[in-house]
Amino acid sequence: MSITEAFYVTKSSALSSDLPSLNLVEQTLHLRKTSKVLLPIALRSEQRALWQDEHDVVLRRMLSSAAWAPFHKQAHSQHCDGELDAPMPWRFHVVGPDACTQLIGYLESRAGESADAKWSRAWQSKVKEMVSACGVLVQATWLPEPLGEGASTDQAPEFDHKNIEHVAAASSAVQSLLLAAQANQWLSYWSSGGILRDEEVFDYMGISRNEKLLGSVFLSPEAHPAARIIEGGLREQRGDVTGWVRWV
Ligand SMILES: Cc1cc2nc3c(=O)[nH]c(=O)nc-3n(C[C@H](O)[C@H](O)[C@H](O)COP(=O)(O)O)c2cc1C
Repeated sequence: MSITEAFYVTKSSALSSDLPSLNLVEQTLHLRKTSKVLLPIALRSEQRALWQDEHDVVLRRMLSSAAWAPFHKQAHSQHCDGELDAPMPWRFHVVGPDACTQLIGYLESRAGESADAKWSRAWQSKVKEMVSACGVLVQATWLPEPLGEGASTDQAPEFDHKNIEHVAAASSAVQSLLLAAQANQWLSYWSSGGILRDEEVFDYMGISRNEKLLGSVFLSPEAHPAARIIEGGLREQRGDVTGWVRWV
């Protein structure tokens, strides 16, 4: 079975039988799913070779489509006075194919040189196989309102209405990216990030510590034949809409 065929096969027979009655957008919504792709790092160069110039073109289209996600409040000016100055309360930092290869090297060297257990734990985790397997990694952040004078730098953002709306808007941009990936038959995986949310990794990637990671999004136009693909653990738990929709 080709990747493309596998992409459209779902374990849920109910979903399969629903599909023909849905329009294209609805089908894409139903078919979007988590595909956690894992590949031994020894095969990274083979995976890298699967990335074609045309994938750059498709990726740019997907990113510009994600810009059309709704947002209610402009990001604070603190987040708009640098290279990235858009008013939306999110930023996408694209770790391209070569940067992904370098990231594996960075994580390995930090694990080797650092006494800090977080790096060796990270190196033992699946993150290196996830980075090895992907086409690109998108570090999606949301942009919190600055804390007041005297707040310490490691203090969590306030859980106020404005920040909630910033997270909501940024989440809709991430979901739009996932849907655009699905529409192009790319595999996608929204991860919490693990070590990729660490401030030192932010520094390495040139991401401001004022931004907060919303997700590390792994995108793969093509999976290596040796890759292992794991579905989302909650995929089949949704049940019927009657479990979460009521009419008032
Ligand atoms: C904010 C967010 C963070 C997530 N983080 C992880 C993660 O760290 N590890 C993981 O296995 N799945 C993660 N997921 C994916 C969920 O496991 C997945 O969406 C869920 O199992 C439902 O599967 P589906 O996406 O295929 O429908 C995350 C999803 C979201 C929305």
